[in-house]
Amino acid sequence: MTTTDTTNRQAGLTVETFERRESNVRMYCRDVPIVFDTAQGTVLRGEDGREYLDFFAGAGALNYGHNDPRMRDAIIGHLRGRAVVHGLDLFTRVKRELLETIEQQLLGPRDLDYRVQFTGPTGADANEAALKLARKATGRSRVVAFNGGYHGMTAGAYAVSGGRSAGKNFGSLTHDVTFVPFEDGPHGEFDSLGFLRRLVEDRRSGTDVPAAVIVEAVQIQAGVFGASAKWLRDLRDWTREHGIVLILDEVQAGCGRTGQFFSFERSGIVPDIVTTAKSISGFGLPMALNLIAPALDVWEPGEHTGTFRGNQLSFVTARIALAYWTDPAFLELVSRNCATMNDAVTGAHGREGFIGLPGVESARVRGLIAGVDFGLGNADAAHAAQRRALEAGVLVERCGPNGEVIKLMPPINTPTERLVEGLQIIGAAINR
Ligand SMILES: Cc1ncc(COP(=O)(O)O)c(C=O)c1O
Repeated sequence: MTTTDTTNRQAGLTVETFERRESNVRMYCRDVPIVFDTAQGTVLRGEDGREYLDFFAGAGALNYGHNDPRMRDAIIGHLRGRAVVHGLDLFTRVKRELLETIEQQLLGPRDLDYRVQFTGPTGADANEAALKLARKATGRSRVVAFNGGYHGMTAGAYAVSGGRSAGKNFGSLTHDVTFVPFEDGPHGEFDSLGFLRRLVEDRRSGTDVPAAVIVEAVQIQAGVFGASAKWLRDLRDWTREHGIVLILDEVQAGCGRTGQFFSFERSGIVPDIVTTAKSISGFGLPMALNLIAPALDVWEPGEHTGTFRGNQLSFVTARIALAYWTDPAFLELVSRNCATMNDAVTGAHGREGFIGLPGVESARVRGLIAGVDFGLGNADAAHAAQRRALEAGVLVERCGPNGEVIKLMPPINTPTERLVEGLQIIGAAINR
């Protein structure tokens, strides 16, 4: 036992309670044996008072950082005014205000026309709803999904997650799903579109025309592999040609993570369904919503329901989060941070860069998400660097097939000096 362990034990600051009582299913905490207490912006504080820079950001649920003061004050005001907190899908003032903000600040400026569906408050449920709707609207069943993809842990969402561990299927989840290699991944590049064309256009391929294709513009859990704009446009053209519903999963890569609100935005495509969750509430509160092309909104009332679709506190904070996207100071900060991240990762503009550090095979960056890849089979090296970064005061997660990629995901509005500081600490932890 180290001196710190002994001191922590005496102060009651141990993780024993969790180990004794919490299910083995717990995960992130295994790499981060710290009991957190308070948080503000990009900074997390442990029970022992030590501060950490949070480059994990709630796995993408905290794109605007912890405890955004405007959102926090709005929640407190909402509670003080005894406004409705839980609303199922009843009409409320707050929901109307959010829908109007979505119309005016999210859809209008992008010339998009979508119906809004509030699903159960997780990304998995948003994807469940999208898959159900695509199957209902087309009368077909098959779904095309991509190797390495991740769409959630419920049965339907897990069934289309290529990134799940083979052999751990928890029963029969694979029905009517065809997995296709993504444009790029840990095993190299692939002509996904050529393969899909052959699969569907050769009527003796043995594969039915799918109801939907579900895709992420950036496969983050796979190790941060982003699709090119051309690939997304070709996929859009091909799905449209065959009447296949294109579902864009924006749960992790959306809400500003790549520097624009939608991660597919720079390709110019218009998906049929966009699924969002995680950072859509802006404050880390549970909320998910789907954007549905009006012609596809063929739901009967209550065909996809759920008790927690009306979390009014999430609606209050989501409205403030969306308003940031018309605030010039916020947009400038995000754009500066994207450039800083790019230079630090790739080594552009005379920076040293992560590429070239010992053990690093490659590094990929898309806006404010980056993957520092130690290469297949080298998860131990990535794990050791993650541990050293934590000891030096920065919290990061790992992704990739076996956790060989260090995932850098700071809040997108992190003050640039703190972003630079965190990147330097991580660089030094890798370079040791
Ligand atoms: C791309 C993507 N889709 C869906 C999900 C599932 O979201 P949730 O954990 O809220 O169910 C995740 C979670 O990491 C995700 O990254």
